[in-house]
Order: sequence, then structure tokens, then C-alpha cells
Amino acid sequence: MLFKRVKPLDQILATAEKKSLVRQLGPFQLTMLGIGAIIGTGIFVLTAEAGQKAGPGMMIAFVIAAVVCALAALAYAELASMVPVAGSAYTYTYGVLGEGIAWIVGWALVLEYTIAASTVCVGWAGYVNGLLTHAGWGLPHFLQVGPMDGGSFNLLACAIGLAVTLLLVLGTSKSAKVNTVLVLIKIAALTAFIFVSLPAVQDQNFHPFVPNGWGSPMGGIGVLGAAASIVFAYIGFDAISTAAEETKNPNRSIPIALIGSLGVCTIYYLLVSYGAVGSVGAQPMLGPDGVALAPGTPAFAAACVGSDALVCSKEALAHVVRLLDHNTIGGFIAFAAGIALPSVILTMTYGQTRIFFTMSRDGLLPGSLAKIHPRYHTPHVITLITGTFVALFGALFPVGILADITNSGTLFAFIMVSIGVLILRRTQPERPRPFRTPLPWLICPLAIIGCLLLFLNLSKEAKITFFVWGAIGLVVYYLYGHRKSHLANGTEPV
Ligand code: ALA
Repeated sequence: MLFKRVKPLDQILATAEKKSLVRQLGPFQLTMLGIGAIIGTGIFVLTAEAGQKAGPGMMIAFVIAAVVCALAALAYAELASMVPVAGSAYTYTYGVLGEGIAWIVGWALVLEYTIAASTVCVGWAGYVNGLLTHAGWGLPHFLQVGPMDGGSFNLLACAIGLAVTLLLVLGTSKSAKVNTVLVLIKIAALTAFIFVSLPAVQDQNFHPFVPNGWGSPMGGIGVLGAAASIVFAYIGFDAISTAAEETKNPNRSIPIALIGSLGVCTIYYLLVSYGAVGSVGAQPMLGPDGVALAPGTPAFAAACVGSDALVCSKEALAHVVRLLDHNTIGGFIAFAAGIALPSVILTMTYGQTRIFFTMSRDGLLPGSLAKIHPRYHTPHVITLITGTFVALFGALFPVGILADITNSGTLFAFIMVSIGVLILRRTQPERPRPFRTPLPWLICPLAIIGCLLLFLNLSKEAKITFFVWGAIGLVVYYLYGHRKSHLANGTEPV
């Protein structure tokens, strides 16, 4: 049942031509869109969490996560160049595995995009609350963090989610320009960090290198556990493929932007994590039994009181630089995070609206959601709805939980895309592929195995949320999309 209703790829391409968004993005703007989505809370905030899970071995976690994401990116690039229409993994799956699986993928992408946007809202609020508090203008504590963090409502996380939503309603082109400036600010902050930290690297900070071991397939701790969390730092490259329908010459631009943005970010992350570990160390906080405490628990928070360990910091990169006595640069990094993290929220929210837009154009969600604003030419209805949820989740949940849930949906989508590439190679070998995944029968299975391994190493809460969300999605599909599908009813809009 789930595997029926495969939408022919030619029909997908034709639909996109009929009711298309304006093609206005070039390869530079697209690469900037990718980097804008990739560099964010992962490196600025979650570096501390990776240290607690893996110790100095978190550098290897950055490498493992980069390799798995690069394998997935090679698969994405093939499908994105073959089917350069909005919707990313959802659209590809519709054309390969059928409507039911496509729906599940689209539903999982909500975890990836909406929850990722919320995660970054919370990361941003952490930095800005810190800056305000230092300046003597701090908000009351109950408005600084959500209920699970001991507060009531994360006001700044909510506010930034809503502000970005308005920017998106006003138009892609304007927001893409803002995005480019913000990307440059982030790059400047990471570059400053590297220049300050690398000269301070000392050998002894790398010992013991893997205090929590390498991790076990189901463990959630050690180097593999850290890699599963650090996947968050690389998420975003696939937001490029969701903009395919608004891209000029997508067959060339999309592979360039995917591989290019991931490459640039990987180099930066490796240098930043080496600098952080080598300059101030990254040993985990241990419990009374000598075992590393799980991050995000009351015991961990208690152990961190009064500690200036990297793993305890909520603003890891600024903290390292301050420990090295470069207070001005520390302030600059915090300021840059405050200014630039919204570009990640923007790209993630944008990606989500385009996926919903495509699903509603297919009849799986109500058509009224896909309405385009007469003046701004953006899908304003779905943008406003998505943005409201982004802001609310950000206001209510802690950053670590949100990040892990994001990764669960993302790794699932990566797996489905890799399977899709292999199936299409068999079933439609003649179809033109402007970008071909090299050695697909090696690369795609490796991507699938890598994603599965990291998925298993996510926190238990994230895995449970993923399966509960999936079950809800199936119910919604059978109650609505299964009956209303344009493909099934032959009611493709003209
Ligand atoms: N990769 C993005 C970040 O780290 C989602 O914030």
C-alpha cells in the first residue's frame, strides 16, 4: 500500500513548470544559502555537548559526522540535479518509492527543518541573553529559558522565530541578500577563533583522548554518541535542494552549492574543534562513580556550577577565547553569533515552507496553504503557520533535546535519498543525470550504514519522538492525503 502511487518524474517536472516560483537564485546565492544553513548552533553551542560525550575525541566525531553527511550529499546532488524542483527528499521519494513513503519522508522533514529552526532560536537566545545580562539589561530568568530548563517562556527564542518569519513573507530575494551578509559575519567569527586558539594548542590537552571510549552501536555516548549529535552542525546543505525550483540553471548550480558549502564548513569545523580542544582541553565532567555525566541532566548541571570547563559552557567558542585572555575577541564572537545565527533560522524555515508548499500542491495538504501572495510572490500562508510553530517550540524546549530530534528526522531523510539513488539507477538508467554520484553502489550503501549507525546513537528521547511522530503522520495521511491526493484523483491543478 505504502509503495503504490509512484509519481512519474516527468510529471513532477511538468507540475513544477506549471505552477512555479520565480527562478531568481544563482550558484553564489545558493552556496551562501547552504553555508547560512550549515554554520550555526552546532559549532557555536553544541561543541560543548560533544566534548562532554567524547572528550578530545570529539574531533573524530566531527570527522565521522562530516563523512556521513558528505556521502549523503553526493546522493542528494544526483537527485537534486535530476529533479530540480522544490521539496527535496519528499519530492524524490514521491518519484521513486511512492506517495506513502514520500509522505513519511515529508513528515520526517518537519522534524529536520522546523525543529532545527527552533533549535537555533534557542541557541541564539542563549548567546543574546548572555550579552544582555553582561550589559546589565538581562531579562528575568523565567523569560530566558523554557519550562524544562527551569524557566517559563524563552521570550527571545520566540521573538527571533517570528521576526525571521516576517522577513520570509516579504520575499526570497531580499532575505537572501541579508543572509549573505550574515554568513560573512559568521565566517569572520570562526576565523578569529581559529587565529586565537591555534597558537595556544598544547599537547597535554589531548590526553586522555577518548575518556568515554569510542561508543557502542546503541550507546549514545563516546565518540559515536558525539558524532550523532554533531550531525546537527552539518545539517543544512540539503536546504539548497529545496530551493531548486527557484534556482537559475539548477542542474549545474545545485551540485556546486551542495558540495561547495559542505566542504567549506567541514574545513572550518575541523580547525575550530582542534583549536578548542588543544587550547583549553575538553575533558568531560565525571560523576562520583568516575563515569561521565550525561549532558542536559540535573547532575551534570550541578557538577558544572562554578566550573569554567569547556563542556559546561553555553557559549562555547566565546568562552574558549575568553579563557585565553582575549576578551574583546570573545565579545566579538558572541556578538557575531547573536547577529548571524538568525540566518540559519531563516534558511531552515524557508526549507520547511517550500516542502509544505510542494506537499500541498500535490494535494496531500490543503491547497489553500500553497497560496502565493499577490505582492510579495511568496507562499505567505504556509510561511506564517510554520514560523509560528518554530517560535513556539523555541520558546518551550531546551536546545539539546531539539537538536537530537532534528537529527533523527534528518538521518532518516538521508537514508531514503540514498536508497532512491540506487533504485533509480536500476529502474531509469537512461534518464539524464547532470550530476552522477561517483561509485553509487559503494557510496550509497555506506551512506545508509553510516546514517543508521548514527541514528542508533542518538538519545533515547529523540528516537522515541521520531517513531511517535511517524505514527501520527501515518494517521494523518490515511485521514487526509490518501483521499485527497491529486495523483490518485487525477486532479493535478492547471
Ligand atoms: N547546521 C545548523 C546549525 O548548526 C543547523 O545550526
